[in-house]
Amino acid sequence: MDCQFSPEAATQTIDWEQQRAWVEIDRSALKHNVRQIKSLLAPTTTVMAVVKADAYGHGAIDIARTVVAEGVEWLAVATVTEGIELRSAGIVAPILILGAVNSTVQVQAIVKWGLQPTICNIEQAISISKAVAKLPPTSPLTVHLKLDTGMSRLGTNWQQAITFFGEVKSLPYLQIGSLYSHLATADELDLTVMELQLDRFQRAIAAISTAGYELPLLHLANSAAILVGDRLHYQLVRPGLILYGLCPATHLQSSIDLQPVLSVKARITQVKDISAGTGVSYGYRFIADRDIRLAIVGIGYADGIPRRLSGRMQVAIRGRLVPQIGSITMDQIMLDVSLIPDLQVGEIVTILGRDGNVQITADDWANELGTISWEILCGFKHRLPRVSRG
Ligand SMILES: Cc1ncc(COP(=O)(O)O)c(C=O)c1O
Repeated sequence: MDCQFSPEAATQTIDWEQQRAWVEIDRSALKHNVRQIKSLLAPTTTVMAVVKADAYGHGAIDIARTVVAEGVEWLAVATVTEGIELRSAGIVAPILILGAVNSTVQVQAIVKWGLQPTICNIEQAISISKAVAKLPPTSPLTVHLKLDTGMSRLGTNWQQAITFFGEVKSLPYLQIGSLYSHLATADELDLTVMELQLDRFQRAIAAISTAGYELPLLHLANSAAILVGDRLHYQLVRPGLILYGLCPATHLQSSIDLQPVLSVKARITQVKDISAGTGVSYGYRFIADRDIRLAIVGIGYADGIPRRLSGRMQVAIRGRLVPQIGSITMDQIMLDVSLIPDLQVGEIVTILGRDGNVQITADDWANELGTISWEILCGFKHRLPRVSRG
């Protein structure tokens, strides 16, 4: 059989896939969330939108363009490749790479694409400075110094802040764009550790300032810290989760009015009746205890529905909650739609999101699975086309 690739056919693939299942991005909700965040900040505090991991599964390019148009000044990604993806799409806002940069090839790409790396320790600063020295003359590379104030992840211990700052400052080809740290427990009810981290950050800043150095931009706050209070805001904040309309903790929900940005939709692909006693899906983990009207939906764990939700999730159809039954399979799930007997093939199922008065959130799934909404959002795969509205 003659089978030739045509770009036209490839474009059509998107439409076919949309017939099956897709992710919807609500740009109006995203803009609303940006405005809500800004309303909590002093006019002198700017926003760095954290768009790493493909903007928490939402699609980094579209999210970055939308937030920049809404007045967000900075973007943050985890890797050089993520930064290049945004630059290739024509995004010109300053981009901080939050992850570690350890190779000359990465530094070359950083300079070429106008990205700004995090420096975690002095050895890294020296090797980045040497790598920049070998490149054709450009202006000094702007770098961002990371202090470890208690997260025990990237960064130099806060007690070595003056030495770290002074040594990086003395290196050629680098200029310090900011000094920052990351909080481990700002979303918890007990803020003891967060206060300790804040205190350490303040002491490190005071020490650098007392040593006679001019302070660069300072930043500390993730989503939870933005909501905890303005003493954590400094000149810049780094929201991730709240941009996407989810709250990092139940007790912080009243501090901000958020709208979820992402929904997941799919279509009914078959409707049929099964009689009492019939097993459903792999392993027969569900056996019908009565006659059931069954609907098959074209979305599965390969699209990002965790298989551990098998028999533990509900979806929404025509504004009503409907139970999913049996094991979730790679590309399909089964529903008990006995309550909607006239359901038709092609009707839309809301897997995550709002349908009338019914809403299913990433928090619902995370609570059911004992995980966090961040992980749920990042789990939706590229097989689901992203469709933006608003
Ligand atoms: C350094 C840093 N800042 C900010 C964020 C944003 O965090 P959140 O999604 O909790 O706002 C992250 C995300 O993990 C991060 O690693």
